[in-house]
Amino acid sequence: MNDQKDTPKVGDDGDVLDKVISLTKRRGFIFQSSEIYGGLKSAYDYGPLGAELKRNIANEWWRSMVHQREDIVGIDASIMMHPAVWKASGHLATFSDPLVDCLNCKERFRADKAPRVAPGTPTKFRKGGTRDGQHLDGVVGSAGYVCPSCGASELSAERQFNLMFRTSIGPVDPLEVLMQELEGKALDRKTLREKFEAAVQSSAIYLRPETAQAMFVQFLNVQQTSGMKVPFGIAQIGKSFRNEITTEHFVFRTCEFEQMEMEFFVEPGTQKEWHAHWINERSSWWKRYMNDQSALRVEHTEKKDLAHYADAGADIQYRYPWGWDELEGIASRTNYDLNKHSEHSGAKLTYFDQNKPDPDSAKMGWRYTPFVVEPAAGLTRAALMFLLDAYYEERGVDADGAEKVRVVLRLHPRLAPVKIAILPLLKKDGLPEIARSIVTRFSAAGINARYDEQHSIGKRYARHDEIGTPYCLTIDHQSQSDQTVTIRDRDTTKQERISIDKALEIVQARLAQ
Ligand code: GAP
Repeated sequence: MNDQKDTPKVGDDGDVLDKVISLTKRRGFIFQSSEIYGGLKSAYDYGPLGAELKRNIANEWWRSMVHQREDIVGIDASIMMHPAVWKASGHLATFSDPLVDCLNCKERFRADKAPRVAPGTPTKFRKGGTRDGQHLDGVVGSAGYVCPSCGASELSAERQFNLMFRTSIGPVDPLEVLMQELEGKALDRKTLREKFEAAVQSSAIYLRPETAQAMFVQFLNVQQTSGMKVPFGIAQIGKSFRNEITTEHFVFRTCEFEQMEMEFFVEPGTQKEWHAHWINERSSWWKRYMNDQSALRVEHTEKKDLAHYADAGADIQYRYPWGWDELEGIASRTNYDLNKHSEHSGAKLTYFDQNKPDPDSAKMGWRYTPFVVEPAAGLTRAALMFLLDAYYEERGVDADGAEKVRVVLRLHPRLAPVKIAILPLLKKDGLPEIARSIVTRFSAAGINARYDEQHSIGKRYARHDEIGTPYCLTIDHQSQSDQTVTIRDRDTTKQERISIDKALEIVQARLAQ
């Protein structure tokens, strides 16, 4: 088949998301968590190819954010932090979503994600939300939305639901202690609830809902030990956890996910330019690895929608099959976080610039709390985006003239889980030995090469097209006589004959492009 990059990505027989979900399961990218026990809702495991893809995305991010910049250093902080961190950051009080119960079908949902309907509009829905339930009539209330599941307007009031996962640390079971205290006492519901809350809170610890806070809390340690001068950044990749009310769209929104975040500390008054700088940098980074760059856009956040700590914000969005949605957030977080942690911890999270005059006193030497610009991307969300962007179906005809569809993942070679498949044409005649010696050469050079001898050569090409392997190297009988092999390009399917000695060099050069 020819290069058909301009043909539609997929045929008209279904949603690209369904096709990607099916491919990722079939080929070992992503599995349902605990599948043999019926699965854990909205939790996923990355299989052999998914783990490679995620690692490659993370490595590319780290390379561009840390290794290629003198002004950024990386850290790897613990997931559990002192509970005071979350009090200071405001997460304990305000990191919540508005939760609503449908009084008809009992579905729980996020008010801000529910279908909007003008207040006073008449509604029709079925009792209990079941297909054969009795027809009921209602009227949309002042909140201006209906249940996303059954369409009912009979809803509870909104209540704030904190998204942080709470657990307890230490060998003492707080509930056991509470039971001893309460033995024989008859308490009303409210008092019982307060006592219960106090007992749990005494040893409570939270799974971090973002990686960002460690960069603020370790600001001084990192700045002083690394001798960093403002402007500079601290970067981190790691797991975050949110008890999302609505998990959706496969790995797009899950309770456990990974983030790639960087806090860039700047002089007060320069945050606007840095915000623009990071929007440009990050947009170019994403586009570098994408096939369809028109599926990426930047949306600036309106003032009224900004988080309370931010003076500007923007989302880098991708055109997912369900519409434009967030891939990365770039916030100008002011000096809110460093100020709050200074206030709550007593540590002075400031920076002294001896070469700048203090704007108030005009004397040389300025101590200030840096402002922060934060590009915050989802790693697991990035994996989904790159899979969706890479999925192509190419229609063509086979040698007998029958219609044939080639499924190909056009992953950027640097993101592809397997860089090169080494394929002996036959499992005999010394061809496997030559193939294995080539695999060893690639592996020694740090390139993930896979030996594959299963099925016909056509099936092997198809398998590697589907998992995004950019190159296939085929060893045939001619290889024995003249030390050459064929190299096949995934995107063009073109093959050329090259010398075995040159194979590594050629692939290295293509990967470096
Ligand atoms: N420190 C700022 C922060 O965490 P955010 O917009 O809440 O900002 C940053 O998260 C990125 O993390 C998002 O753009 C998204 O890619 C990813 N993300 C957030 N919640 C997620 C979830 N529940 N599942 C998967 N990815 C998520």
